[in-house]
Amino acid sequence: MGFKRTKVGILGIGAIGSAISCLLKANTSLDLHFYNRTPKGTIKVLYNGIENEILVDDINNYNQELDWLIICLKEHQYNSATSTLLKLVRPHTKLVSIRNGLYHKEPLLEYTKEENILECIIDCPTQQKQDDIYQILRKPILTVPESRLARDFENLFQGENATIKQTFDFKTACWKKVCESATLGAILCLSGETCWVFQDDELLELYKTALKESIQVAIADGAKIEVDFIDKMIAKLLSYPPEKSSSMLTDRLNGKPIELDAKNGVIVERGKQNCIATPINDLFVKLLKKTNKKYFIL
Ligand SMILES: NC(=O)c1ccc[n+]([C@@H]2O[C@H](COP(=O)([O-])OP(=O)(O)OC[C@H]3O[C@@H](n4cnc5c(N)ncnc54)[C@H](OP(=O)(O)O)[C@@H]3O)[C@@H](O)[C@H]2O)c1
Repeated sequence: MGFKRTKVGILGIGAIGSAISCLLKANTSLDLHFYNRTPKGTIKVLYNGIENEILVDDINNYNQELDWLIICLKEHQYNSATSTLLKLVRPHTKLVSIRNGLYHKEPLLEYTKEENILECIIDCPTQQKQDDIYQILRKPILTVPESRLARDFENLFQGENATIKQTFDFKTACWKKVCESATLGAILCLSGETCWVFQDDELLELYKTALKESIQVAIADGAKIEVDFIDKMIAKLLSYPPEKSSSMLTDRLNGKPIELDAKNGVIVERGKQNCIATPINDLFVKLLKKTNKKYFIL
């Protein structure tokens, strides 16, 4: 009997979908299939100084019986993917949702059983360079809740090109990521500038104050944030190259909707529910909603 390769679909071939495709390509026992709104012929990723090019000759083939479907969409893109998910998700297909925000499973429960869904957050600073090349700036860290599904997911990755972390407290991990990316993203998106702006003491102070506000909401919502988290985030921020962007700024500059509900929006919403005032995030949301107005009715 022939060896059957594991069929893995990747839905959403943007920054993160391209990075994941590049990481999984190293495992030759996988049969990869790609799904994207705009058809693509190649995926190009620059990682560790090496340019990887993956030829995509069979994009959006819905006839595949996928063992895994790895969803690399932003929260606001899930609604538009309903018909694709209905075609691709079979009773045995395991779903992995890689995105920012909280409560990843909720939008997927209409397609499969809860035990087939693995939530995942990724720390993978990625920049789009010219010609659709995505550059991975640091070794990606994928964080998933500890489970048997998580162990099976970890086995899809080979070698040392990514770190898969299993955690017993996924909620805290999600909140830390939301606090970090919403604060950095809002300041860069509103200033229209990259990380060089944090050389200005006033903006560094704004980062600290906004982060503190978000952390208060996270703690009230049940996250366990360590006392030196702000210091760690400042050290990380100051280690970034001045030209580092954020996905919110990139989306704004590219004329695409920004991921507001999954970031500052969820901080404001959870703040209200937990009676924590969020004046800075309220202001961020009020201003950033305007940039999204042309895409959504808010
Ligand atoms: N970028 C980063 O460095 C980074 C880092 C950490 C975490 N994240 C998180 O990872 C998640 C994914 O972000 P991203 O930066 O990869 O987003 P992205 O670059 O915007 O990629 C999304 C991709 O999904 C495709 N898409 C959108 N709607 C679709 C649909 N209905 N059917 C099929 N394909 C569809 C888009 O296609 P088109 O080509 O047609 O636009 C695009 O290629 C987000 O939650 C983000 O916050 C990102």
